[in-house]
Amino acid sequence: MADKKTVIVTGGHGFIGTNLVRLLINSRAYRVVNLDALTYAANALSLADLEGNPDYVFVRGNITDSKLLASLFEQYQPAGIFHLAAESHVDRSIVNPEDFIQTNVVGTCRLLEVARAYYADLSEEKKSEFRFLHVSTDEVFGSLGADGYFTEDTPYAPNSPYAASKAASDHFVRAYRHTYGLPTIITNCSNNYGPYQFPEKMIPLMILNALSGKPLPVYGDGSNVRDWIYVEDHCKAVKLAFEKGAVGGEYAIGASNEQKNISLVNKICGILDDIAPPVEVPQLRERGLKSYTELIQFVTDRPGHDHRYAIDSARITRELGWQAEVGFEEGLRRTIDWYLSNPKWLSQASGALYVEWIEKNYAWRADARRESK
Ligand code: NAD
Ligand code: TYD
Repeated sequence: MADKKTVIVTGGHGFIGTNLVRLLINSRAYRVVNLDALTYAANALSLADLEGNPDYVFVRGNITDSKLLASLFEQYQPAGIFHLAAESHVDRSIVNPEDFIQTNVVGTCRLLEVARAYYADLSEEKKSEFRFLHVSTDEVFGSLGADGYFTEDTPYAPNSPYAASKAASDHFVRAYRHTYGLPTIITNCSNNYGPYQFPEKMIPLMILNALSGKPLPVYGDGSNVRDWIYVEDHCKAVKLAFEKGAVGGEYAIGASNEQKNISLVNKICGILDDIAPPVEVPQLRERGLKSYTELIQFVTDRPGHDHRYAIDSARITRELGWQAEVGFEEGLRRTIDWYLSNPKWLSQASGALYVEWIEKNYAWRADARRESK
């Protein structure tokens, strides 16, 4: 095998980052320098097994810290960067947009600027190999009605502060390609699910709440649609785009798996009823719970809630040969199994700060709903 490439992954301790770092290291083609600030969304247990691995270095630091960024590029001479570090939760962006501006916009700009200076001094050979891969979201395209799909040509129309901050970062990445010739690639992916996702997001939140007998809070009437992709399929697409994607390329990534929120929550409940029936969980049996669906509660909607996301990923399939491999039923079962098998990880993720967030995001929704009845 050719020499391993050293790459920097930002946000490698988050949900997608953890899965990507594993994929890169297991491929035996990469050495990974993981730069992560370890915000509330990171879990120290996620990559604990890589400690001591000669192909893995962890650096705790912030992507807004230009000095640190420059020293990392200088020290590790990376062949490229996978940029994932971000504030990523829409509901938090509604409560506090400033953090999203700092990390997603300012942080991405600082990283681009340091990468530009580093790239300028590379030899022609190293220049031809270097890539700045920016991991972004389909939320930058806004909301769809009943028909149609997002493609790489869909105009940007971000609706939430999160989506606006990601859209701004995409624009800066594009501008660094256009103005300075930095070899960038942007991927815009739909909703991910799978192991290591922080339980503020819909799927792990529902699993955690169900197992502890708490209400399953469905926003609005549950008719909003998301297009779900298993995280490992997304990571394979990102790796492929880095290795084979066109310089300046943009790739929309999705698994053609649209689900209404309410049917997704019902599916989660169905699988849990099957593998962890409430009658076998002492505190749920005592409450006479027969199915987890009895915990579903419709709560006040998210302000500005996008109605539908759906991706047409024909370009990455046609140009790079990528296709999602994990079907939804299988992916959801794997995900639920993983959360059931990793109580330590889950308890680390759901400490005091998490409880504080849940109170802030959900208490008013349930109250407002009751008052409107
Ligand atoms: P996450 O919230 O689980 O993880 C984010 C990681 O970034 C955490 O480890 C956190 O500590 C780190 N981080 C945050 N701010 C930082 C900073 N200033 N400096 C250094 N590190 C910082 O997010 P995720 O779901 O893994 O998403 C990763 C990327 O993929 C994001 O850019 C997101 O916009 C994008 N994306 C996510 C989804 C999804 O469904 N989760 C879909 C498409 C695209
Ligand atoms: P989320 O996982 O926050 O991802 P995003 O907002 O980036 O799509 O939410 C997925 C969908 O689930 C979205 O339509 C909002 C909805 N949702 C709920 O109904 N209840 C919840 O408690 C959460 C967190 C989300």
